[in-house]
Formats: sequence, structure tokens, C-alpha cells
Amino acid sequence: MDYDVKDMKLAEQGKLKIEWAEVSMPVLRLIKKRFKREQPLKGIRVTACLHVTTETANLMKTLQAGGAEIRLCASNPLSTQDDVAASLVQHDGIAVYAIKGEDNKTYYRHIESAIAHQPHVTMDDGADVVSTLHSKRKDLLKHVLGGTEETTTGVIRLRSMAARRVLRFPVISVNDADTKHLFDNRYGTGQSTMDGVVRATNRLICGSTVVIAGYGWCGRGIAMRAKGMGADVVVAEVDPVKGLEALMDGYRVMPMQEAVPIGDFFITVTGNCRVIRGEHFAAMKDGAIVCNSGHFNVEIDIPSLEKQSRKRRLVRPGVEEFTLRNGKRVSLLGEGRLVNLATAEGHPSSVMDMSFANQALGAEYLVKNYKKLEKLVYPVPPAIDKEIARLKLAGMGVTIDKLTKEQEKYLASWEVGT
Ligand SMILES: NC(=O)c1ccc[n+]([C@@H]2O[C@H](COP(=O)([O-])OP(=O)(O)OC[C@H]3O[C@@H](n4cnc5c(N)ncnc54)[C@H](O)[C@@H]3O)[C@@H](O)[C@H]2O)c1
Repeated sequence: MDYDVKDMKLAEQGKLKIEWAEVSMPVLRLIKKRFKREQPLKGIRVTACLHVTTETANLMKTLQAGGAEIRLCASNPLSTQDDVAASLVQHDGIAVYAIKGEDNKTYYRHIESAIAHQPHVTMDDGADVVSTLHSKRKDLLKHVLGGTEETTTGVIRLRSMAARRVLRFPVISVNDADTKHLFDNRYGTGQSTMDGVVRATNRLICGSTVVIAGYGWCGRGIAMRAKGMGADVVVAEVDPVKGLEALMDGYRVMPMQEAVPIGDFFITVTGNCRVIRGEHFAAMKDGAIVCNSGHFNVEIDIPSLEKQSRKRRLVRPGVEEFTLRNGKRVSLLGEGRLVNLATAEGHPSSVMDMSFANQALGAEYLVKNYKKLEKLVYPVPPAIDKEIARLKLAGMGVTIDKLTKEQEKYLASWEVGT
């Protein structure tokens, strides 16, 4: 079998970690059991481009149980857990192409290796497989039935392709499922981003000022956790509704230029580019710490930071300290890439349980329904979304109320209550 991972000797350690994650993924376990029985993906070739973590490993094993033949590559050069990659090759016979810290050239070479088996289904986190198929490997498009997309930034890219009528197959937007963004983006990114900041820096959060750019689903979660750890949280936004929401949630809201002199930590999570730029670095305090949790490493203008600096050194793993020409030091975490994956381990398994249940059921839905779908971006069907929430609650041992017949009738009628 063809593969490219760092070190096969790490496989045993990876297996233990994958099993540890599986314990917190009851919904995916149930899907895996059914998939094994029903084989809904029998003979389907899947190319998955996801963060190669323990949770992704459990998703891959679920798809494999359903009969899929899988190739997996990384959706970010820094997010791969090398032991997990080795275990998937060794213990599950899954072709993995991912090495933590791979350079850009290797990253794209790995994507090309992962699509070389002519996928029927693509599974993306950031739309890199879809974009590679539509640019460099158009010859493979004829095999593809459809794809799924995990994250906000990927969905934005795909919607723009669909609007320009260049998207050549239907894609299910997993990110739009309630059981995805309400939990993964908010609670997953919230906890794991602060985890990444703390693991990288070992700095005390309470009593510090944490500036968060972007108050979307991820930003809300990070702000909530930073506040819970005792920080004074400042939010920078461009959307007036989100700015207002942040204010009423109890945070200070101001433009980035006003926040830079007071911030100790800066976290970008906007899905936009150059949110922290040259003029901002120049006005920061000595010792400021800057990181990003948005999908691409373009939110912090790193070339401008490099240009303004007279010295740079790696002071701790994942922490690069830049000494600016004005004498102040600014530290960048995880090379400006997703800090929760670069310096921590990404979202906890319990939250990925729901995101990846959407991925697995989204792939099954595509295989069953692709003939009825147009070359557009589709949401996860609401019935699947609700079922995942129901299973998750059941997995957590929680039951909820049911509507009575009378309540159903009341809600469905416009005459009642007049
Ligand atoms: N780190 C992770 O594990 C993880 C998990 C999920 C999503 N993501 C990524 O995080 C990013 C944000 O995702 P989301 O779901 O929160 O998106 P979202 O659309 O809900 O929120 C983004 C927010 O950023 C704001 N924004 C845009 N440009 C800005 C600017 N220049 N300054 C300040 N605010 C600005 C927008 O108004 C919006 O409110 C995306 O790139 C997404 O792919 C990362």
C-alpha cells in the first residue's frame, strides 16, 4: 500500500490515542455499527483531506466499516498527529499522506497522492481537494459523485464556485448543520484555542487582556472561555450585529487599532485576511502574543511582521519571538496557523463526535441521492441534523420532553389562540 507518514514506530501510541477518543464518540460508534451491517459505502472511493487527529481516525474507521476505500491527507501542514497517521496505516490499512510540519510543496503533493485513486466522494476541511480537482486534475472530476465540506472557510469558497457555475459536483455543507457549528465552532474552538494558547505559552490568562477578532461561532466560544479563565475580553468586529451582541454579552468592543495598545493576547478567528497588520504590530505592548484560530494562515500579516522585525527566534516549541525595529517583542504562536491544532490537539472528541457523524451521514446521503442533486452546495438534511442531536443526548444519558398531541395541534394551527 502506498502512504507517506513520519514514523511507523509511532503506530502503537497512535492506536491507544484513537481508542481513547472513541470512548467519547458514542454517535459515531452507533453509525459505525450500522455501517458495518448495511455497507452503504461499499466500493466507494473516498479522498478525505482533514486534520489528521484521533477523531478523524475514528471517522475514517467508520467509513471503512461502511465499505469505503479511503485515502487521507492533511488539511493543514501543522495539524497532523504523526502517531495517529502511522496507526491508521499499520492497523487499519488506510493510505495516509500526512507529516506534521510538512512544507507547502509536500502538503500539495500529499493532496495529489490522495486524489490519485480517483475518488467518488471528497471530504474536505477548507476545500483544498475540491480546488485541486477543479484546477490541476480536471480529468478526475468525472468520477466524483459529490463531496462534503467541514468548515466555514471551505463553504465560503465552495459557494463562490457554485455562484460562478464552476463547481462540477454537489457538496454537502457539514458546517451548516446545527449539530456542527453550534457545538464544534463554539465549544470546540473555544476550549481548544485557549488550550493551544496555554500549552504554547504557559502564561496566566486571568488578569490579562485577550483581544479576539471575529465574533462569529468560533469567536463567541473563545470569548466565553477566555472570560471564564478570568481575562478582560475585548472584541474587534466589522459586523454591527455581532459587535452589538458581543457588547451585550459583556465584552468591550472596539476597532483593532484601539485594542492593540491594551492587548496581552490577540486571537484572530474571522476567516478573513490581514486582520492584524503592520500598523497594529507597531502599536502593540512589549511581549504581546499573537495567534490565529481561523482556517488559513492569512489572518495575521506575517510578511509585514517579518519586515518590521530586526530579530526573530524560536523561544519555545510553537512560539516565535519577533523583536521589532522599535525594540518591542511580539510572539507569534504556531506560525499563525490554527493555534488549537498547531500547539494543542484540536477539538475534544466529544464535540467532533457530532461533526463527524454529520460527515459520515452526509457521505451516505450523497451516495444515495447524488443523481437528484445539482452542482450546488447543500445543507445536511434537517432530519439527519436532528437525529444526531437525539443520539448525542441519548449517548449522554439525557432525555427531553415530547410535544403532546394538543401542543402539536396548537403549534400547527393559526386559528387557536385567537
Ligand atoms: N480553529 C478551528 O478548529 C476552527 C473550527 C471551526 C471553524 N474554523 C475557522 O474559523 C473561521 C471563523 O469561523 P466561524 O464559524 O466563526 O465564522 P463566522 O462567519 O461565524 O464568523 C466570522 C466573523 O468574523 C467577522 N469578521 C470578518 N472580517 C473581520 C475583520 N476584518 N475584523 C473583525 N471581524 C471580522 C465576521 O463579521 C464574522 O462575525 C473560519 O476560517 C473557519 O473555517 C476554525
